[in-house]
Order: sequence, then C-alpha cells, then structure tokens
Amino acid sequence: MTSIAGRSDASLRAELLHDVAWGLSRAQKELPPKYFYDRRGSELFDEITRLPEYYLTRTERALLDCWSTPVMVALRPRALVELGAGSADKTRLLLDAMVYAGSGEVYVPIDVSAEFLDDAAARLREEYPTLGIEPVVGDIADPLDLGPDLPRPALIGFLGSTIGNFDAAEARALLENVARAMRPDDRFLLGADLRKNPAVIEAAYNDAQGVTAEFNLNVLRVLNRDLGASFDPSKFEHRAFYDRTLHRIEMHLVSTDDQRVSIPGVGEVAFAGGESIRTEISCKYDRASLDCMLGDAGLVIERWITDSAQTYALVVATLARDGGIDA
Ligand code: TRP
Repeated sequence: MTSIAGRSDASLRAELLHDVAWGLSRAQKELPPKYFYDRRGSELFDEITRLPEYYLTRTERALLDCWSTPVMVALRPRALVELGAGSADKTRLLLDAMVYAGSGEVYVPIDVSAEFLDDAAARLREEYPTLGIEPVVGDIADPLDLGPDLPRPALIGFLGSTIGNFDAAEARALLENVARAMRPDDRFLLGADLRKNPAVIEAAYNDAQGVTAEFNLNVLRVLNRDLGASFDPSKFEHRAFYDRTLHRIEMHLVSTDDQRVSIPGVGEVAFAGGESIRTEISCKYDRASLDCMLGDAGLVIERWITDSAQTYALVVATLARDGGIDA
C-alpha cells in the first residue's frame, strides 16, 4: 500500500468555499462537520472525550479493552485501516491486539487533518516499530482507495460513532464505499452509539464545562482564519438537543442578534436573531437500524458486541455473500 498524497491547498480551499456557500444558502443554514477538526478543534474534541458527561468514548474504550484481543485473534488481520483516525488511544488497543495476534503488518490511518495525522503517525512509528504506519490524508466520505498492495485480510475500523455524524444518504454512500473497497476476507469494525434515555444523550453534548460549546464555536474561527470571514464567535451560542423522532442529536450555533457576516468568495450572509447554523448531527442506532443500514450497503453483521446496559455497540461486519440485502 502506498500512501496517497494529500490534496493541494487550492483544491481544499475551493471545496471549503463551495461547502460554505452551499450550506449557508440553505433555509436551515448548515456547515459540514469536517471543518471542526483543525488542530484546535481536534484538541478540543480530545478534551470532549474525557468529559464525565461524554459516555461514548469511555464506553467504546471499555468494549475495546475486552474485545480487541478476541476479535483480532479470531480475524488475524494483516492490516488495520482506520477511517477518521484522530489521535485517540483506542487505536493503541487495536494495534496492541493486532500485534498480539501475530498477524499485524500495517496500520493505515485516514484523516482530513494532515497536521494531526502526522503527529500521531510519528508517535506510533516509535511505539510500534514492527508495523508499517502509512497515513493517508483524505476525506472519509470519498471513495476508499486501498490500493492493490494492502495485505489481506484487512480490518477497516470506523469507530467513535462517527457514522452518526452522517445523514442517512451520506452514511449509506460511505458504507457502500467501504463495501466496495472490501475483499471477501476483509472485515469492517463499526462503533455505534445506541438509543437510550434522551436526557443522558443530551447531557453528553451539553457538558457543564462548556467544552462542547467551544468546540462548536471553533468552526467559526476556522472560517475566519481559512476564508477571512468576519464571524464574531461571541455573537453565536451553542445549542444541542435530541430529536426523538429522528433519533439524533442536532448541534447548532444560534445567532444572538440580527447580524451580517462577510465571507470573501461567498458574499454577505445575513442572520436573524435566533436563527441557527446546524453544525452537526449525531444519529443513534439500535440493532435493527444498523442491520438495515449495513444491509443496504451489502454488509452483514457477523458479531454484535455491546455493554450490559446496551449503551454502545461494536459491530463486526462482512460482505454479504451475494452482495445484496437478502444474503
Ligand atoms: N461521533 C461522535 C459523536 O457523535 C463525536 C463527535 C462528532 C462529537 N462531533 C461532535 C462530539 C460534536 C461532541 C460534539 O458524538
């Protein structure tokens, strides 16, 4: 597997401009969540994962603590590909287990944040001298090109319930990309947050220390820095609520006043007081909804791993044998 070069600044900037222009011209203004994750955003997100209210990371880590080794020993993957790798130490649990299983050769983290990815890769090279660490800068929503040389079987990990941050159509497209990249002996490891008491879910996205609010507002700083926009972050407020019908958290930035913001290359954007930009969704699942979503992409659940309180699930999926939903 050769690592795929990052895209040029010009093409990333053109995409950012296009996304911002499109998102802010909609009736419900929105911004794509991938722009949260500059260096500061990635650090803030790391902080979120340690908050007492944010049960997701803790619960997923506890599941990986128990299950990484048995899963790796059973699958014996030669490669671990991680979608949206970030920095988190969950990666180490998987790498330790893959090395323990005696099969691991290469780790391919794929992430949009080049800086962050480089730092993480440098540390991992020291910690795992027997593994090839081959980071790829890229958008996980784009088709996955794993190259012809990726050792098989590979385990493709998509953890942190990041799948929940995609709407139904996007999630389907992403899972189809994964399925298309998979060979019959490869496996897909998905971490997904499960439906539960809405108060518990809402607290996770409204922490008492305001770190999630800072994280949310950081996207405006990204637009100011990267596009020369004139957002005043003190004129926007964080709001997150659970939609019980759609089974998802919605995170918004609410304009405190009528205001106009100039974004070079996009124009002037008007906000009414109380009007919001939706910056994130976080969908919550159950076994049936995951069965269905994976099935639509040509994948079937091989193992369903959850905590006793059914807070969070780790799913191991494989290609459906006939590639269809009726396998
Ligand atoms: N995927 C995780 C979740 O949905 C992490 C995450 C993404 C997140 N964006 C976030 C957490 C914004 C808090 C706030 O929870």
